[in-house]
Amino acid sequence: MLNWKLAGAALGVIAVIAAPPVAASASSGSPKSDAADVAASTKANALTAMDGEASAYAKYNAFAGQAARTGEDTVAKLFTRTAKVELYEHFAAEAEIAGTVGTDQANLADAIAGETYEATTMYPGFAAQATADGCTVAADLFTEIAADEAVHAAAYTTALTSLSDASVTVPAPQVVDVVTIIASSPACSGQTQTNLLAAMHGEAFAQAKYNLYADHAAATGHPAIAKLFRGTAKVELLEHFAAEAVLAGLVGTNEANLKAAIAGETYEATTMYPTFAAEAKAAGDRAAARVFAKAGRQEAAHAKAFTAALHRV
Ligand SMILES: [Fe+2]
Ligand SMILES: [Fe+2]
Ligand SMILES: [Fe+2]
Repeated sequence: MLNWKLAGAALGVIAVIAAPPVAASASSGSPKSDAADVAASTKANALTAMDGEASAYAKYNAFAGQAARTGEDTVAKLFTRTAKVELYEHFAAEAEIAGTVGTDQANLADAIAGETYEATTMYPGFAAQATADGCTVAADLFTEIAADEAVHAAAYTTALTSLSDASVTVPAPQVVDVVTIIASSPACSGQTQTNLLAAMHGEAFAQAKYNLYADHAAATGHPAIAKLFRGTAKVELLEHFAAEAVLAGLVGTNEANLKAAIAGETYEATTMYPTFAAEAKAAGDRAAARVFAKAGRQEAAHAKAFTAALHRV
């Protein structure tokens, strides 16, 4: 829960994070067969692609909000429809390559590690940097988010205990305090702006991963853990990512948003995915190569659709 309010922010500012330790769960011993078979380079590329896809999902939903608020319903629908492809098709397929989802125990341990890193290292460091940069609004936001991440780590720790101790109840997820990502320009500059962008990547990645962990928990008969993952994912996206996006200046005019989307899709279609597909093929990972190549073709189609929309607005 954030007490930080947009009204107090010098609106004017956005960014990405080193995704916290992903799938630090080699000990789980279960559904990791896909990942076990791929080359380290293929797995690393899958994680890079997942970071881009999770961020695109978060960003396009923010762009859709701006389009809807300004009466561009067709553009809004294009952004929300495309966002779904990035998350439910591309991110999900690449997570299988990377072996992101393990047992419920492993997934919770991974989530605890990520939340603890954010609560005790990343966000406190970003807050200190923001203070040094004279950007109080970002320092305050980072400090408040660090406190939320500590709450998430504690809830996941209790959930992990519940798997081996039937007397332990899984906590309800934190209540989401939704932040609207209005159009803004960067509130901070320099390293703090870089850190805001990094934090946004971490939040977007966490929300995407937690939804996969929730699906797994639901499938293994742990609905309360599924609910905790889903609710926490909402906090990461609708509160943390959103508040950081406002400070970072993520959303601009519909025209600027479409141009940013076209640039990202074009890079993925013409550079990133063709490179990843070729590397996977060279490493003998044929199924992964097909996933990357297909995603690349779909990104080209996204770039085309966004370009057509740009000509209409
Ligand atoms: Fe969190
Ligand atoms: Fe978060
Ligand atoms: Fe795309």
